[in-house]
Amino acid sequence: MKRKPYVAGNWKMWGTRRQARDYFPRLLERLAPVAERTVDVGICAPFTALDVCVEAARGSGVRVLAQNMHQAAEGAHTGEISAAMLTELGVDGVVLGHSERRRDHCENDRALREKLPVALAAGLEPILCVGETEEEREQGETERRLRQQVWEALEDVPDDRLGDIVIAYEPVWAIGTGRTATPDQAQEAIAFIRALVADRSREAAAKIRILYGGSVKPDNAADILAQPDVDGALVGGASLDPVGFATIVAAAEER
Ligand code: 13P
Repeated sequence: MKRKPYVAGNWKMWGTRRQARDYFPRLLERLAPVAERTVDVGICAPFTALDVCVEAARGSGVRVLAQNMHQAAEGAHTGEISAAMLTELGVDGVVLGHSERRRDHCENDRALREKLPVALAAGLEPILCVGETEEEREQGETERRLRQQVWEALEDVPDDRLGDIVIAYEPVWAIGTGRTATPDQAQEAIAFIRALVADRSREAAAKIRILYGGSVKPDNAADILAQPDVDGALVGGASLDPVGFATIVAAAEER
């Protein structure tokens, strides 16, 4: 099955409403018209800029995603945001399980197991982030860690919805460090993740898009995106510059 590449920019805690308003026209003028575009493009923005992004992206085909979501429909969860709050704004998807949230905000596989079906039921496309730490890689624990993260998070997703999820393989040691995984390392880990999905459903494994994230830049994107199992990129720092981000999208177009 041919999978459409997907390049998403994760702004993290960047992007006031004013910055979001300035950003979109600069990005959109550099993207191919939506009817000719062969790559899906997304922007993962802070909650406070989501409505600005939805408005600015209207008609452009660029998806707008949140960076987190609570699993409960509503209730006593101070500071949290529900799926319905996101869909009300016209948001298309949500990043779940980013390593910065796992590290700083106690996001764990158990909570993710609940969040994924909630996002899917609400019509939000989830990008599930997984990845090993440097220590885990050095100790030969990469596959064990990925298996645990993928299996646990996907446990309550029915087989026929697995293919609607996007997974981002983001080795923690490559995030914000300027140290990318080599193309071979990215391919190997992503092929392993695809095999984990195939244990549940071969059909879903052929359909599911698995992205690489971790210090993707305009000058290294093409080599990583050329790998057969790498279906795109989740781009942090380099997505803050719409010109550089559009260059990465173009690298995926040429893949
Ligand atoms: P960097 O591209 O800044 O390394 O961040 C990657 C990332 O965490 C995307 O979610």
